[in-house]
Amino acid sequence: MAEIVVVDSKQAAGELVAAEIRRLIEATADTVLGLATGSTPLPVYAALAASLLTHPLDVSRVHGFALDEYVGLPAGHPESYRTVITRDVTGPLGLTPANIHVPNGDRATLEGAGADYERAIDAAGGVDLQILGIGRTGHLGFNEPGSSFASLTRVKTLAPKSRADNARFFASPDEVPVHCITQGLGTIRRARHLVLLAFGAEKAAAIAAAVEGPVSASQPGSAIQLHEHVTVVLDEAAASQLVNGDYYRYIWANKPAWQGI
Ligand code: PGA
Repeated sequence: MAEIVVVDSKQAAGELVAAEIRRLIEATADTVLGLATGSTPLPVYAALAASLLTHPLDVSRVHGFALDEYVGLPAGHPESYRTVITRDVTGPLGLTPANIHVPNGDRATLEGAGADYERAIDAAGGVDLQILGIGRTGHLGFNEPGSSFASLTRVKTLAPKSRADNARFFASPDEVPVHCITQGLGTIRRARHLVLLAFGAEKAAAIAAAVEGPVSASQPGSAIQLHEHVTVVLDEAAASQLVNGDYYRYIWANKPAWQGI
């Protein structure tokens, strides 16, 4: 079962996950991080950046792999995930830009881009800790309902609901690309530790389906149930539809301190 941690605030969630990432980097300088975009992981990056300021750590050998990218945005577009990762992650954390990878969403060279990305992840030794958000559709990365649990990095069509959710980042809803290139659920499941975060009532149904629902391609988030090391970090609102929420809180309250997440 995934470990479910319900915290008081996004900040507390960020600090919990940032502490684990620090621990990994302290143990292994060439840790490979799986990087999510969107609003959800921002408290993790902020907490990690703050911690690196007060307690510097050599992060020059850390590698990072973004989950996904829009197809067809011009290079340097402010909402391309390449730009977002540079702005929110690589820069604030002081990571080495050459070590940070984002799937190639350039239409002209799209055909081999998925296979190239899989090779790059493998060449880096695989992802140690994958940060994940979840969409209202239940998507992980941009693996919308129906995605195979065995899928690898490939081009997908964004669900209209996901395009609508992401319209807040663009000047108009029509500007949100229709296609994306995303790590597959099979790619994500190869990461050694999955850390899924969710905040707010609008994520409660997707979280309940992912954690407690049947394992089904119709609920991509439920792929986490097939992984041996998963931590789900939620605020109260995102946890509000969990049937066994009290039990998860009891487990966390009684967790041996030496275990970590
Ligand atoms: P959000 O997106 O973090 O911006 O809510 C999550 C997702 O769509 O996976």
